Amino acid sequence: PQAKPCLLVIFGATGDLTRRKLIPALYSLSRKGCLPPEFQIIGIGRRALSDDDFREQQRQGIEESAESQHVDASLWSGFAAQISYLSGDFNDRQTLDRLAERLASAPPANRIFYLATAPSATSTIVRELATVGLNCEDNGFSRLVIEKPFGQDLASAQALNRLIAAGFQESQVYRIDHYLGKETVQNVLFFRFGNALFESVWNRNHIEFVEITAAEPLGAGHRAGYYEEAGALRDMVANHLLQLLALTAMEAPVALDADAVHDRKTDVWRSIRPMTPADVAARTVRAQYVAGAVNGDRVPGWLEEPGVRPDSRTETYTALDLRIDNWRWGGVPFYLRTGKRLAAQATEIAVHFKRPPLSFFPCTDCLQSNVIILRIQPDEGISLTFGAKEPGTSRNAVPVSMDFCYREAFAEDPPSAYAVLLLDALRGDSTQFTRSDGVEAQWRVITPIQDAWAKDTDTPLATYEAGSEGPAEADRLLERNGHEWRSIG
Ligand code: BG6
Repeated sequence: PQAKPCLLVIFGATGDLTRRKLIPALYSLSRKGCLPPEFQIIGIGRRALSDDDFREQQRQGIEESAESQHVDASLWSGFAAQISYLSGDFNDRQTLDRLAERLASAPPANRIFYLATAPSATSTIVRELATVGLNCEDNGFSRLVIEKPFGQDLASAQALNRLIAAGFQESQVYRIDHYLGKETVQNVLFFRFGNALFESVWNRNHIEFVEITAAEPLGAGHRAGYYEEAGALRDMVANHLLQLLALTAMEAPVALDADAVHDRKTDVWRSIRPMTPADVAARTVRAQYVAGAVNGDRVPGWLEEPGVRPDSRTETYTALDLRIDNWRWGGVPFYLRTGKRLAAQATEIAVHFKRPPLSFFPCTDCLQSNVIILRIQPDEGISLTFGAKEPGTSRNAVPVSMDFCYREAFAEDPPSAYAVLLLDALRGDSTQFTRSDGVEAQWRVITPIQDAWAKDTDTPLATYEAGSEGPAEADRLLERNGHEWRSIG
């Protein structure tokens, strides 16, 4: 179904996110007929651009986007007519006054304000929107979509939540985590709660450990300035990986609606045992890549990347051993790892089952554990590995797998994560967004790690060669428990 007539205001309209993700997603929604004819987009940015300059930039962005959509001339002219541009500084009240004036004279009365800006601008924009009355829902809805990071730590996240709550109801706020728009991520709940078979063994009695990986071969590229401040923990774990963990570990919600799902996810984050400084030393790894080769190309180490301080202690890789203190998961390690410049792209959740209690097969390797692998990307799909008898007279079991592959099972390519989430925000469904208490619960897990790392300014960081599987320290983290990471490559 189409979204209601609505006006979408994008702050940070000349930035990368708008050009590479938001406008291509909106164009694809328009192409599929999901946007009503009255739908309008106003981009706000600092640069002085005409409406036509802005449209042309965005048209190029659509053609270059990851989904590389062909821009059909007649569709484009209709879509372009719905886009306009307003130039101005977000810190300047006049910009918001001009926006308010423009909105007062422009139907539709429903508005969404999308903050695709640097985190430093978020507070000012939220405050000013409320000051000029654009938070008001008298004539139609007024929603805020906010990009991560939601703060830098627990205290700043709480301050940001307070500031938002001073101007907006929680129901007006959509904190976006694009991982939740990925088809395979949304499928985790369907897989678990739509199949009696798996859910009945989804607990500490049957599961030995869970591995959650997000490995990227790319470096921080032109985002080195941002990444130097963020590091892998804040960039990936504090949001995407903790979301994957919550979907894997949560109890069944009472309904598939926003509050019910948020309640159960927040329970998981609240049950993660907070780390003491000693835990941080023993159960976390932070590392930086040194020069190496990725896909055959030589690449410099992190410290040689432009824009990186020569004494940078920013982690480009992190691995954590988290424990969830509840009845379902007591004693089951949840290992998380993520890093830049690794051997390959691999985002997956691997659930390792306990081995059989004894073996009557002659070979020692026959006691394979079953593993369910939820492949988020690439090669989206699910596989189950198990042991099968080797043909012939052998009495050995060899590992084999049953595979489900999205590309083979469904003819249609899934929509982009941003298209899915933008449509949800337009329709008023915040199930796949993060509620304020969830954000704070996530930071309660992350902040003790940040604090312990910040205090330790002497211990040299672990290193790993660009293009490798990560640091040896991460392997040792699992070896202590008799476990092993799956190979990334
Ligand atoms: C972003 C991070 O949120 O997610 C990036 O800031 C990271 O550093 C990206 O590369 C990964 O997203 P995806 O969809 O490519 O897995």
